[in-house]
Amino acid sequence: MKVHFIGAGPGAPDLITLRGRDLIAQSAVCLYAGSLVPSELLAYCPREARIIDTAPMTLDEIEAEFIRAFENNQDVARLHSGDVSIWSAMGEQIRRLRARGIEFDVTPGVPSFAAAAAALQVELTLPEVAQSLVLTRTPGRASAMPEREKLSTFASSGATLAIHLSIHMLDKLIGDLIPHYGEDCAVAIVFRASWPDEQILRGTLSTIGALALASPMERTALILVGPALAQDMAAGQDFAESALYSVGYRRQFRGGTRDGSAQ
Ligand SMILES: C[S@@+](CC[C@H](N)C(=O)[O-])C[C@H]1O[C@@H](n2cnc3c(N)ncnc32)[C@H](O)[C@@H]1O
Repeated sequence: MKVHFIGAGPGAPDLITLRGRDLIAQSAVCLYAGSLVPSELLAYCPREARIIDTAPMTLDEIEAEFIRAFENNQDVARLHSGDVSIWSAMGEQIRRLRARGIEFDVTPGVPSFAAAAAALQVELTLPEVAQSLVLTRTPGRASAMPEREKLSTFASSGATLAIHLSIHMLDKLIGDLIPHYGEDCAVAIVFRASWPDEQILRGTLSTIGALALASPMERTALILVGPALAQDMAAGQDFAESALYSVGYRRQFRGGTRDGSAQ
């Protein structure tokens, strides 16, 4: 018996990994976070599977399901949205499984920031513009932020920011970010990336607040901020090419010389 933690992807049911899909198909029990995991994935469960939406459950109740499956020698597919390594509450479940000696494994999934970048058709790390991506959030009812993880600290680096769980704080965010990025810095908000009702708002730190007010949307949204989000950059202006594909760049799979001539 094993508990399989599986990243279910950002929403589109075909954005789960093949491994994740196969583990669902071989598990007699499926626990899924109903608010964000697409119900189409449940079609992969075996016909007689015990399928439970954990959205209304407590951690104790979820643990009781793990114990029940353990006593029945049944595998569990435990689905979380996006990837399980960020904001999935996997850590506390793993701690309980370890304490009970119940085996588990982890299968990654497509995170929502990647789905949002794909929807925007952008690279978040453009050469000489931004080479770091900060995955962060603002404090919420369920989780406070550690004292040193201030948005302004991350913003002072100028890196691309992918701000999760924070659409309700948009005005406050804008105020915190303008001193670091400037009013004209590009912002994109992607609502329900990869779902059929996906929506995109693009603007700058000075315009995005009014745009969001004019089209209030679902709370499942990612806010992406930074110069790499500027549309003219994505179109090919104002950033350097990476050395990776330059003629003179020597690497294992392609001959090249320091003066740029082919070997
Ligand atoms: C509890 S966190 C889960 C994050 C998830 N584990 C991941 O890998 O992206 C939920 C937050 O992730 C973001 N999110 C999740 N799915 C999304 C999607 N399809 N489109 C946009 N944002 C999404 C939103 O910021 C949402 O408030």
